[in-house]
Amino acid sequence: MTAARAAAEILHRAPGVKPRVGIVLGSGLGGVADRIADAVAIPYTELPGFPVPSVEGHTGRLVLGTLGGQPVACMQGRVHAYEGAGFDTLKTAIRALKLAGCDILALTCAAGSLQLDVGPGCLMAISDHINMLGANPLTGPNDDSFGLRFPSMTDAWDPALRALLKAKAAAIGIDLAEGVYVAYPGPSFETPAEVRMLKLLGADAVGMSTVPECIIARHCGLRVVGCAVITNLGVGLGDGPVDHDQTLRAASAAASELERLLVGFLEGLHEKDGPRP
Ligand code: HPA
Repeated sequence: MTAARAAAEILHRAPGVKPRVGIVLGSGLGGVADRIADAVAIPYTELPGFPVPSVEGHTGRLVLGTLGGQPVACMQGRVHAYEGAGFDTLKTAIRALKLAGCDILALTCAAGSLQLDVGPGCLMAISDHINMLGANPLTGPNDDSFGLRFPSMTDAWDPALRALLKAKAAAIGIDLAEGVYVAYPGPSFETPAEVRMLKLLGADAVGMSTVPECIIARHCGLRVVGCAVITNLGVGLGDGPVDHDQTLRAASAAASELERLLVGFLEGLHEKDGPRP
């Protein structure tokens, strides 16, 4: 099985690290990986079945090491539904993290805000999601060795992990919003009418990723926590159009806040659970 081969390769290449937390870094947020101590970086091209991202701002390597006192496996670069390659490589990558020892997946992404009072530069803890991709990564035969045919999405975004994220944000002086993330297919940005619709449907932020990762992770029993970096107000809510360069620049500007929060969160896991057996 490809995920098992990828997991074996990960453990072989970084023998000193038994990762506990998988991290997925979103557009413009790859710098978090530079803070990982004793880092071993493996290009996705050297891991069986891993995705090869095609989008600027996504590097395409797995960085193993220690962050905030926790052994981590950090995906620097992700693939999106709009790249058109399907979800098989994403499934392989996330399941490989699980097989390599992770029990938590921390997802980050850039997103447009649908709330006027949560503007560019803000961070938003993801409390729930709406999948409007028109596709589900679990479509197709179920692999029973990973999870159920019909996995529950109640508390898909782990309440206890989110509480820790919020507590850490408060402790280190970061204003953390909280809300529902909707995945919209892209790659075109939304129209103003679509943004109004998404807001009516109950979403607080819109992006083109993150939901497939959460679904795959929950299916195989990983606990999921997520934080969106708000790079812009949704199209039509702010002034002028939104473009990818602008979202990358805004994500990079907010990345240091996200790094501080992520490190605080990982340290908090350690304080809460103690060292891993
Ligand atoms: N829409 C979709 N994806 C995004 C946005 C947006 O406004 N901003 C950053 N990623």
